Amino acid sequence: MTGSPASKTTATTLHALQTGYRHIDTAGVYRNEHGVVAATSQFLALNPTIPRSSLFISTKFAPHLKGYKAATNAIAQSLSHFRNPLRLDDVRLGMPATRPNGVDNSGWPKDPVFKAPRTEDDGLGYIDLYLIHAPSGTLEERNGAWKAMVEAQQRGEIKHLGVSNYGVRHLRELVEFIAEEEKEGRPGGRIEVWQGEIHPWLSRHDVRAFCEEFGIVIQAYSPLVRGQKWGDPLLKEIVERTGKTEAQVLVRWSLQMGFVPLPKSERNERITENAEVFDFELTEEEVKRLDTGKYEPCTQWDPTVWTQ
Ligand SMILES: NC(=O)c1ccc[n+]([C@@H]2O[C@H](COP(=O)([O-])OP(=O)(O)OC[C@H]3O[C@@H](n4cnc5c(N)ncnc54)[C@H](OP(=O)(O)O)[C@@H]3O)[C@@H](O)[C@H]2O)c1
Repeated sequence: MTGSPASKTTATTLHALQTGYRHIDTAGVYRNEHGVVAATSQFLALNPTIPRSSLFISTKFAPHLKGYKAATNAIAQSLSHFRNPLRLDDVRLGMPATRPNGVDNSGWPKDPVFKAPRTEDDGLGYIDLYLIHAPSGTLEERNGAWKAMVEAQQRGEIKHLGVSNYGVRHLRELVEFIAEEEKEGRPGGRIEVWQGEIHPWLSRHDVRAFCEEFGIVIQAYSPLVRGQKWGDPLLKEIVERTGKTEAQVLVRWSLQMGFVPLPKSERNERITENAEVFDFELTEEEVKRLDTGKYEPCTQWDPTVWTQ
């Protein structure tokens, strides 16, 4: 949910969960972690038969923070959000103060439950996935942050660990650090997830090969190329054959490539549209054609090439 204010995030996360999404991605720097958690908690309250364990909420260690101590503090702060969800009417979420009577156009869910302030025991309990947002800082600082994450995992605060925006060099360095830790008899952790910009115009063959070798799950951000390729002939042809939208074709490509796509929208109808991708398939040839081998980041931010 990059760049979405907490109020928008809370409403769209609730809609996404009600639509059937089970994985929501947030981050300390997005400043909407508390919105995602409040919506998730509300969703669980509205759907008591859906277990917490079926949901997967990820968050990240901010790029401007560095090293072991900062990571330890950041994890504690995220965990406090996860364990103490805000009520939907908490002013910190910035939801509209009053829900217009009978009109559901304010972002409020139809039947808000307004859970009482939660205690540690009935919040989300743990962070499903914690990622280092970007390979910032020195190698020692990156390794320190990882160590803090492993310790939090040992304490049961985080279920899964990963990195975001790491290039192959950064990944190799981390694998070496993990091996050193284990040689010294300390838990090294495992890189379970790599998250990064990946789509037909940035298909990252090098990272894919690395992830395949080490059994790392690829989460694809900006899978819709932020809308910058609407009308591209590569997509148009498939749209005409399948009758699906360009966004649906891109999400489908990501899935058929074996990635976990993270499409984002602030509009309910698009959130629904982006999930309607299980009633068609791209042919093998179409999947290959979209794997263009190009290197065109759409986000103007490519930390995978950082050299520090
Ligand atoms: N780890 C990282 O450093 C990092 C960096 C970037 C992103 N991410 C994660 O990846 C997620 C998605 O990435 P992203 O936001 O960069 O890019 P994206 O999902 O490729 O594109 C989002 C854009 O596409 C539009 N859109 C969504 N669905 C659409 C549809 N069906 N038809 C037309 N337009 C549509 C959205 O507009 P509307 O909102 O108006 O619908 C928004 O402008 C983020 O929310 C974040 O969780 C992570």
